[in-house]
Amino acid sequence: MFKRIRYRLLLSYLVVFASLLGIFAIAVRFAFTRSLTEQITDKLTAIGKGAAANVEFEKGRLTVESDFRPQDLIAYHQTLQWFDTQGNLINQQGQTALTLPLLTNKMVQVQTGKIPIRAVTVPIIKSDNGELVGYVRVSQSLEEFDETLQKLDWGLGGAIIITLVLSSIGGILLTRQAMQPIEESFQRLKQFTADASHELRSPLMAIKINADLALEYPEEIGPKDVEKFQEIASATNQMTRLTEDLLFLARTDKVPTQNRDSLNLTSILENLIQLYKPQAEAKQIKFKFQLIANLQLIGDSVQLTRLFTNLVENALYYTPSGGVVEIKTTRVGSQLYVNVQDTGVGIAPEYIDKVFERFWRADQSRSYWKGGSGLGLAIAQAIAQNHGGLISITSKLGVGSCFTVCLPSS
Ligand SMILES: Nc1ncnc2c1ncn2[C@@H]1O[C@H](COP(=O)(O)OP(=O)(O)O)[C@@H](O)[C@H]1O
Ligand SMILES: [Mg+2]
Repeated sequence: MFKRIRYRLLLSYLVVFASLLGIFAIAVRFAFTRSLTEQITDKLTAIGKGAAANVEFEKGRLTVESDFRPQDLIAYHQTLQWFDTQGNLINQQGQTALTLPLLTNKMVQVQTGKIPIRAVTVPIIKSDNGELVGYVRVSQSLEEFDETLQKLDWGLGGAIIITLVLSSIGGILLTRQAMQPIEESFQRLKQFTADASHELRSPLMAIKINADLALEYPEEIGPKDVEKFQEIASATNQMTRLTEDLLFLARTDKVPTQNRDSLNLTSILENLIQLYKPQAEAKQIKFKFQLIANLQLIGDSVQLTRLFTNLVENALYYTPSGGVVEIKTTRVGSQLYVNVQDTGVGIAPEYIDKVFERFWRADQSRSYWKGGSGLGLAIAQAIAQNHGGLISITSKLGVGSCFTVCLPSS
């Protein structure tokens, strides 16, 4: 139980942490890409301005007296292109040229393709009269840019993975430390329940013995007191049962089943049927059974008897007279199934999961001593789980319920 809580805690912590890291990485990448792009644009613009200054305009013609060294341009994967005002190419230096036509209204152009290229267009303006005489377009392949981005991605991804691994190790240690006091106090509570119910046994026994003793001589105490003593005896019986149940539940999850014998489930059920037949007849309930002979399994016969007693008692108690209670066994592969079916009041769908909770009862207002204390099914389920099995329910309100106990056979 605590393990599951711990895993859930750790998982939600990691999910939160991973999403935070993811958001952080996306923000970093976005900011980095933006500033890198701006940097390239600025650089290209500066080169373009320099190239524009290296132009002679004579008799309506542009001549480029370039003193740019092409090898520098190639090293940086850059290309210079000069255009006249009509957009005709006049001169070109460098290799990775943009094939797109010149767009004078757009300063930045991007060519996608195998090698992405970014280009900046700068107008050439005559210094003496401010006349526009042409354009210089500087382009640069974005290979390096993409490589840088890829490196950044790898770096960010690696950092995220390392951080997540480290933080999950930290998370495991932290959740273990955080859960420890809770687990301890849970154990203490259980120990307290066990101790308290154990300590209650002897005083309850004393009350019971004294009440029974008084009832042995009814003539000495008078009819009015007989009734009182009977009530005391009956209440003491209920309390004894309650403390026994509490003791059982407090102890049961700690140690699995101690007494493991090979036993015959069929004979356990047959004994039970014999035991409860009179009660069923008294309530005019038809008690039917359909048992496979010799269902062998390994387990604790006292506990298993208790499990089926609880189910049969419930079936008889929650079925009105004239109803039917049926016990059926089946075997599927290595699993044994015992159905305890009734035509009783049924359980509302929203409560089906609740019936196994301790002290849960559909009718909370019902007299505390009638039927039981709400521990019966919790105990039955604990016993089934102790034997590697499970109890499941199908029920319909007002129609009846079917409790199916699944146990591994030997
Ligand atoms: N066969 C049944 N038919 C209808 N309701 C049932 C049946 N068995 C159990 N329940 C419901 O589940 C609750 C819990 O059962 P249980 O743990 O045996 O406690 P208790 O019998 O002491 O009330 C009961 O109070 C009842 O509301
Ligand atoms: Mg019960």
